[in-house]
Amino acid sequence: MSAPFDKNNPFLASLVDRRRLSSPASQKDTQHFSVSLAGSGLTYKCGDSLGVFPTNNPSAVLALLKAAGFTGDEQVTVPKDLSSISLRQALSTRLALNGPTYKFAQLLHDRATDAADKDRLAAAIGEADPEKKKAWMEQREFLDLFLEHPSARPSSQELIELMRKLMPRLYSISSAPSKYPQEIHLTVAVVRYESNGRPREGVCSSYLADRARMNEPDLPIFVADSHFGLPADDNIPVIMVGPGTGVAPFRSFVMDRAARGAKGSNWLFFGDQHKDHDFLYADEWSEYQRAGVLTRLDTAFSRDQAAKVYVQDRMRESATELWKWIQQGAYFYVCGDAKRMAKDVDAALHSIVAEQGSLTPEAAVEWVKQFKKDGRYQRDVY
Ligand SMILES: Cc1cc2nc3c(=O)[nH]c(=O)nc-3n(C[C@H](O)[C@H](O)[C@H](O)COP(=O)(O)OP(=O)(O)OC[C@H]3O[C@@H](n4cnc5c(N)ncnc54)[C@H](O)[C@@H]3O)c2cc1C
Ligand SMILES: NC(=O)c1ccc[n+]([C@@H]2O[C@H](COP(=O)([O-])OP(=O)(O)OC[C@H]3O[C@@H](n4cnc5c(N)ncnc54)[C@H](OP(=O)(O)O)[C@@H]3O)[C@@H](O)[C@H]2O)c1
Repeated sequence: MSAPFDKNNPFLASLVDRRRLSSPASQKDTQHFSVSLAGSGLTYKCGDSLGVFPTNNPSAVLALLKAAGFTGDEQVTVPKDLSSISLRQALSTRLALNGPTYKFAQLLHDRATDAADKDRLAAAIGEADPEKKKAWMEQREFLDLFLEHPSARPSSQELIELMRKLMPRLYSISSAPSKYPQEIHLTVAVVRYESNGRPREGVCSSYLADRARMNEPDLPIFVADSHFGLPADDNIPVIMVGPGTGVAPFRSFVMDRAARGAKGSNWLFFGDQHKDHDFLYADEWSEYQRAGVLTRLDTAFSRDQAAKVYVQDRMRESATELWKWIQQGAYFYVCGDAKRMAKDVDAALHSIVAEQGSLTPEAAVEWVKQFKKDGRYQRDVY
């Protein structure tokens, strides 16, 4: 393998640091990772993401093989790339163990030899309520379907042809190339939850946290270029809204401005569950504040009091100052949860623009549209 490395030719990097950022008493497991770029020729910019190709948990692969009645040594032909490899290898590195479809349920139904298995599958496939039908499948991985219908035994080739490709995951880079040209840092929330009575884990976040080896060049990575980034002019002020792991690119931004002695003001809104357990990089922020690099830090610890407090509440509390910064040319950045946070922060921004700029709601919408068009309102949400 040789440069240039990219998504189609990932670099096998070494993980050189792994530590927990959230305290052991936290309800979350947020971790910091450092990946060495030494020998890759790879470079990155603040705002870029790192792509990571995970492998599935060997115990999950074993459980699936056992439940489906395979040894793992069966040879299969992986769709599209047409390589012939063992089923064990295909399930470990090429295919997603989650996300079965109704097409697969139909295959199980067709192969089931037990009447009760057939009936249960027919009922799920024929479910009239679309919400219920969707939920039934969403709660199940391939393993669940095999365990629940033990008489259904498709061939190994039939199985893999109905599995999705195991995709790389992206992570916002939380280091700055001006300080760490040979390293990339990540800030990752490890996904762990329970579904259909079984504990589950996110493939890539648990791979990084539990299975990726330290100091061994075997982590397949690539740098994903992004338009999200600091203004070219170092004097421009920036406002950064990054609750949870959304803080990742802003650690990169502030680190970069500190390393390069950039003069622009920096204002960070950070939020998470508890100050004592989830204040990611707290020491670094206080050092940046002491050094005068982080001009302002507003925090919202949602579960430290009876009523929830979120970053957008802090924005509203400081609406006059926030508007002043925007009038002075500040760029406004949001990173983190797309489903709820980014929408609510966007609504708060609209209401601040309307109120502070004395605009009608319609005019505020147009104003924010232009703000985006000018590249001054940037989002990296997932
Ligand atoms: C541009 C970009 C930047 C990103 N940056 C970061 C970052 O800096 N840090 C970071 O941590 N992540 C980041 N992500 C998210 C990251 O790419 C992964 O999606 C995340 O780590 C989960 O991947 P996984 O393989 O561990 O989980 P997967 O195996 O993909 O599982 C995740 C899935 O599990 C299910 N799930 C999760 N929690 C629950 C629950 N409580 N109940 C039921 N189902 C649940 C959902 O279906 C979810 O889609 C970013 C994503 C993008 C697109
Ligand atoms: N599948 C899901 O349901 C789900 C839920 C949350 C996060 N996620 C994903 O999990 C990953 C990791 O999450 P994370 O650690 O980065 O942080 P996070 O779970 O997004 O939480 C960070 C902080 O944001 C708060 N928050 C919740 N809703 C908010 C809203 N509407 N507006 C503003 N703040 C809000 C949280 O408060 P509270 O938790 O106290 O409300 C917490 O204090 C992300 O990829 C995220 O998208 C998924």
